[in-house]
Amino acid sequence: MISKPKGTYDLYGQKAKQRQYLDDVLASICEKYNYEYIKTPVFEASEVFHRSVGIDSDIVSKETYDFKDRGNRNLTLRPEGTAAIVRSYIENKMFGDPKQPKKLFYNANMYRYERPQAGRLREFSQFGVELLGSDDVFADAEVISLAYNIFKILGLKNIKINLNTLGDEESRKNYREALIKHFKPHINTMCEDCQKRLLTNPLRILDCKVDNNHEAMQTVPNILDYLNDESKNRFLKLQEYLDLLEVEYEVNPGIVRGLDYYNHTVFELELVNENFGRSNILCAGGRYNNLVEKLDGPQTPAVGFAAGLERVLLALEEEKVNIPINDSIDIYLGYVNEEEKETALYLTQELRLNGFICETEYLGRSLKSQFKSADRLNAKYIIILNSDDLKDYQVKVKDNKTKEEQKVAINDLVDYFDMHM
Ligand code: HAM
Repeated sequence: MISKPKGTYDLYGQKAKQRQYLDDVLASICEKYNYEYIKTPVFEASEVFHRSVGIDSDIVSKETYDFKDRGNRNLTLRPEGTAAIVRSYIENKMFGDPKQPKKLFYNANMYRYERPQAGRLREFSQFGVELLGSDDVFADAEVISLAYNIFKILGLKNIKINLNTLGDEESRKNYREALIKHFKPHINTMCEDCQKRLLTNPLRILDCKVDNNHEAMQTVPNILDYLNDESKNRFLKLQEYLDLLEVEYEVNPGIVRGLDYYNHTVFELELVNENFGRSNILCAGGRYNNLVEKLDGPQTPAVGFAAGLERVLLALEEEKVNIPINDSIDIYLGYVNEEEKETALYLTQELRLNGFICETEYLGRSLKSQFKSADRLNAKYIIILNSDDLKDYQVKVKDNKTKEEQKVAINDLVDYFDMHM
């Protein structure tokens, strides 16, 4: 037997129905917020991610699925959505669209070569939004509140927003210097990656998975002490807007995010539940004002987030939130002989096209077995086809709850079910 690759999963049955419910809720919320659906390829030129997420990030240095195609091109299965969306935004000149800002959403598979565990997979799905073309913290507030409201609408109560700012370039430069000064005396006792990062990208030391308990990590300088006035005021204004929207958050200067493209606002939504381990970050995002330019587009400020849908579904299960999924059909059509079978074939099509969920028999089983099938499918009504009734253009309809039976003219069936369901 051939097994699925490590860190992937098959989705079917009840779990597939739960996922469909989640996808529908997300798309419907995006419609209200006026975000448009976007789909980009599963693989991109490797450069798209190297130049955006960052060569020193764990994602690019350890987790991407890179390959060469038969034309010797360097390609990468997308590890995240943002860089790919920005590539598409530039290539399709969306910056020239009269409708601005550009508000996009996606729901797609991503690929990271991680050590698989609950909520951490190699193929996983992200739902995300990207708002491109506004530098106003008003946009940050909308994006954060959208993430917050999604979890509220889904019924998840124990969600905590961790909010931080990385400030503008000047603030980050000051902070970078402070980090170098702080880590330098300890660096020989830290991992090889951190030693490299001290010179190339000291901010990345803060999300090192190896050294996260190192004593030097306990006393790192606080980014908020290195913000210039403009960055500080921006951050205060964002908090004012979030207060106005009644979004609850906590300022957490430890949030730096594992991708290089952020500046100013960064945030994570965490499920507060002890059983959830390290996969409790359901959603994360922030502002990335320089990414479009970095990928050769015009200077375009932007902000967005992505949520891991497998984690969201695990959270709904762990928190015992009821997911409304339809587990019944409207009508089951039972028959025995060939004439009845042809009528069943025709009537199931007719009823399905009129909006009813219908099922019938495919295996030539006895009527008794067909009734059992109808029960297993939780059929609300059963149509029992019978040659004698068909001569009068009639069928027998049984209410599967009350067990009452009634003859109904074939031509009146749609009206009958419209009235009764
Ligand atoms: P990220 O923090 O790398 O950000 O991923 C966002 C979310 O995807 C995580 O919080 C988590 O829920 C989920 N996730 C990440 N890796 C895995 C995995 N291996 N298995 C299961 N779920 C996972 C980004 O990807 C950014 N593009 C977010 C963003 C959008 N920033 C601005 N716009």
